[in-house]
Amino acid sequence: MTGSKKRVYIKTFGCQMNVYDSAQMVNLLGEEGYDEVSTAENADLVVLNTCHIREKAAEKVYSDLGRLRQLKEARADKGEAMQIAVAGCVAQAEGAEMQRRAPVVDFVVGPQSYQRLPHMLSGKSDPLATDFAVDEKFEHLAKKRAANGPTAFVTVQEGCDKFCSFCVVPYTRGAEHSRSAEEIIAEVRALVRHGVREVTLLGQNVNAWAAQGPGGEADWGLGELITHLAQIEELARIRYTTSHPRDMDERLIAAHRDIDALMPYLHLPVQAGSDAVLKAMNRGHTMDTYYRLIDTIRAARSDIALSGDFIVGFPGETDADFEATLQAIRNVGYASAYSFKYSRRPGTPGAKRDDQVPEAVKVERLTILQDLLLSQQVAFNEAQIGKTLPVLFDKKGRHEGQICGRSPYLQSVYVQGSASLIGSITDVNITGAGRNALTGNLVQEALAQA
Ligand code: 5AD
Ligand code: SF4
Repeated sequence: MTGSKKRVYIKTFGCQMNVYDSAQMVNLLGEEGYDEVSTAENADLVVLNTCHIREKAAEKVYSDLGRLRQLKEARADKGEAMQIAVAGCVAQAEGAEMQRRAPVVDFVVGPQSYQRLPHMLSGKSDPLATDFAVDEKFEHLAKKRAANGPTAFVTVQEGCDKFCSFCVVPYTRGAEHSRSAEEIIAEVRALVRHGVREVTLLGQNVNAWAAQGPGGEADWGLGELITHLAQIEELARIRYTTSHPRDMDERLIAAHRDIDALMPYLHLPVQAGSDAVLKAMNRGHTMDTYYRLIDTIRAARSDIALSGDFIVGFPGETDADFEATLQAIRNVGYASAYSFKYSRRPGTPGAKRDDQVPEAVKVERLTILQDLLLSQQVAFNEAQIGKTLPVLFDKKGRHEGQICGRSPYLQSVYVQGSASLIGSITDVNITGAGRNALTGNLVQEALAQA
């Protein structure tokens, strides 16, 4: 711990994994005497925690670095120092090239090596770290977990061995690696002691998690891990994301049937609806296996809300392929989804193909696809009107006297109610639904308690 307080500003791009990593960096830097601040203006250290999944995400980092260079120069004119670190997947992918392209950057740390940041700041370690030190990272971070509100993310798995032909993740996050059950259970217990009621288990391929149980039991998968975590008293809700259809095994599906704490929501990206495109994407499954999987999951938990990711305009995608994706969406029915235009990522097999789809076609397909997904999302939200749903309240709403929480299906729910309900799970009569949120009234009992 150093003498006077210093200020760190962290800007997070991309996925929930990065949100988790940023929170860990705040903890880590807190021990070095840094307080988190909400703007770069007066920060002593600025960290950009970056995403490389699509081109735009990386471009945004470089344009931010341009603005930060001006700020750093202005601060230097006043005799004040400002250091800049780039963390995350752009740091991993660019490595030393990052500082050549943007010399304003002082430190470059990949997603598996940011535990070295404090040593870098004190000059004790190299300002560039992009090795895949996953074990070192998990070990270092395990016991340093602080809770901030009733919900928390817990990383259980990192990396990916699937090599979808469009995706940079296997290159930036490295090979699949499962964190030990013992460490995960210890972290969840610590969070629960600090008032956390819901954990979301995170991993690029979270359902590929595989390790020994805490008592040395062989061959645990995510299903067993969730079943074990559900026994922790006061832990009311468990979620996990993101899953791959190939790793959705029977034990995990059975957990959706048997474990009340496991929420009825599943993010299971399919990416495209035609077998030809799935094959070209190297997804390792067909539409037939995907449909059968969805049927099995729905048989286990009939009300499960399905979510997915879709890419339009993968190289070689024809009008008929795109129509097959629309048909798949109509067949399955999604509660929510993310969709993207294919973005050519250097070093991936898809980028090398010479049958790239013109930008105008991608734009048109994305609009059509998003209209369909939005209509399904609105229909799913409207179907909740008239129901009573248990809501875990986690924050105040935008308006006076309003509080906000999540339904079991991960929808935001707004009600008029006392802030004392934050942290509790309370029944709400749903009276309204929009594209992104539900509204409702606390049931009488909860009103009496508040
Ligand atoms: N172009 C467009 N979307 C991509 N994704 C991953 N790589 C690309 C790419 N090159 C999307 C996938 C993935 C989500 C996290 O981002 O849909 O599931
Ligand atoms: Fe990327 Fe495919 Fe791995 Fe998901 S499964 S991280 S899309 S390579």
